[in-house]
Formats: sequence, C-alpha cells, structure tokens
Amino acid sequence: MINRRKFILSSVFSSAAVLAGKLAASQSAPRNLKGNPLVISTWDAGLSANRAAWEILGKGGRALDAVEKGVMDTESSINCCVGLGANPDRDGFVTLDASIMDEFANCGSVAFLERIKHPVSVARRVMEKTPHVMLVGSGAQQFAIAEGFPLEEQKLSESAQKAYTEWLKTSEYKPVINIENKGHGPSAPSQFENGEWNHDTIGMVAMDTNGNLSGSCTTSGMGFKMRGRLGDSPIIGAGLFVDNEIGACTATGQGEDVIRVAGSHTVVELMRQGLSPEAACKSAINRIIRIKGDKAKSIQVAFLALNKKGQVGAYAIQKGFSYAIRTNAGEKLIPAKSFYS
Ligand code: GLY
Repeated sequence: MINRRKFILSSVFSSAAVLAGKLAASQSAPRNLKGNPLVISTWDAGLSANRAAWEILGKGGRALDAVEKGVMDTESSINCCVGLGANPDRDGFVTLDASIMDEFANCGSVAFLERIKHPVSVARRVMEKTPHVMLVGSGAQQFAIAEGFPLEEQKLSESAQKAYTEWLKTSEYKPVINIENKGHGPSAPSQFENGEWNHDTIGMVAMDTNGNLSGSCTTSGMGFKMRGRLGDSPIIGAGLFVDNEIGACTATGQGEDVIRVAGSHTVVELMRQGLSPEAACKSAINRIIRIKGDKAKSIQVAFLALNKKGQVGAYAIQKGFSYAIRTNAGEKLIPAKSFYS
C-alpha cells in the first residue's frame, strides 16, 4: 500500500521530468513570462501554500492576493509552525512576525504579535490602511482587533507543547539546522506521517499574469527565543524584498544572520547587477559565511529568489533546504544547492 508520504512524493515527482524540462527551457531561454504566472515558496510546506496561491494566480489574479492567500494556508495548519500552535518563546508565548510587499514597493509588517491567526493579513492591512510600514506587539494586536481580526486563544500543538516541556528541562537555546523542515513534507523525516510539524517560517514570492511581482513571509520565529526577539521575517529588506523592475527574494533560517547582511535586499541588488537568482542567493550566502567564519557550520540560512524574466534560484548554507515551485506546467519540490554538502 502506498503510504501518504510516498504518495505525495510520487505525485510530486511523476511529472517532474516534464516539468523540469519546461522549467529548464524557461531558464535557458529567458524571456518575459508575462502571461505565465509562477509562485515559489520555502520548504516542503510550500507545496500546499503554492496550491493556495495558485487558486488566484491560475485565474489571472494579482500576485499580492496570491502571496497573502498562499502563506495563510500555512498559518492555518493546525499543527504547524508559523501559526498559533507553533513553538513558543522561553516564557511559553507564541509570538508571530509577518511581512508583505507588492509591485509598487508598498509594504507592511507586524512583529511580536500574539493571539492573531493570520499575521500576514494584518501586515497587509498595515500596508494598505496606515501611514506606517511596521506595527509591533500590543499596538499591532490592537490594530488587528480594530480591523476585525478575532483574538484567538493560544493553543500549542501537541508537538510544540512536548518540545517546550522538553526544552524547559535544560532551558538551553541552540538553533537547530533545518528545523523548519523537520517533521513535515515529502522530504521530511518520518514524524510527518504522524502529522507533527516543528519549524518556523514560510516565505513566498510570485509573478502574476501581468508580470507583476509580490512577496510574503510569515513565522513564529525561533522556538524558545527570548521574549521580544524579532527575526528577519517582518523586516523589509531582510526576510523579504520586492523590486518590480528586477525581482523578489525571501529568506529562511537564522534571522539574525539574514538581518546582518540585509539579505533579501542584497539578493535583489545582486540580480540588478546581472546575477541570476541562484548566483545572487549564493553570493549573499557567501557574504554571511565570510562574516561568520567557523560559526557558519552550525547555522542554516537560505535565500529563494525570482527575477523579472521568471527565472528562479535558491542557495543555502547547509544542505536540506528545498523550495516548492508552481507554474502552468505543474508543481515540484526542488532541493537547493548549498555551501556545505
Ligand atoms: N527566519 C525566521 C526567524 O529567524 O525568525
């Protein structure tokens, strides 16, 4: 009997040869893909998030709507990672960060937000309804409530509760490489079959049928972080950046080191200088490795980028990062190249 994991793997990869051929053709013969929407997002959870985004992109909708709806899928996952059931901070509270950016360089973000199910949608309201870019903490929560978002009860998933109880025994903070993908998705270890999730971020960038770009990023941040800690995801230019003339990038992994190099902005600027998305991601990763020296061996950061020609690319410090792509030709999960293999 085909189990769920094998079934997903076979459905994802049965069309891989055809899709890979079409994707390779699009990459070797770059052209403006106006009329050919595409969406990419981080980790295995991106497959499901891309499907949600495709409900909009596939009908000719706007990339901005697609990237919001796409990551809402992940925020809604009952046992997941970036939403209310995620790993809490050291004091036991789940605090959420999110950002969104459109083709006009409009952007919005929220950080240190508690008890709101869809931080990415609050980030969009900040962008569309306030003169500001970023709201944090109780101010962000008050704004969300005023905008009609219900105040939810925090409900740690079983795995988050278990992990937190375990963590309390030592209260030691050590970032875990690829924790974003541990326990879910086709390439995840066997916990996935038990429905456990244990990770932190989804970033998504998309191009719509008009050739316009948008991006979103949403996270619970690092499990057992210090109270008040923010990562890269809500910081425009770090966890997410979109320049509709050039391309878009999102980041995942240890946010502190993404912020250090203004990661997503750096990748977009490197694409502006003519680098392909993969080369730009690799160059930004190399910059982090130069700064961190030997300490880079124990951290994970990955960038995922899309340029205006519809070319995509990614690069990570450690192996194990994969991204999901959806185009008119189908969907696929692609393992990224990495500095350490
Ligand atoms: N990349 C997510 C975080 O560091 O919070």
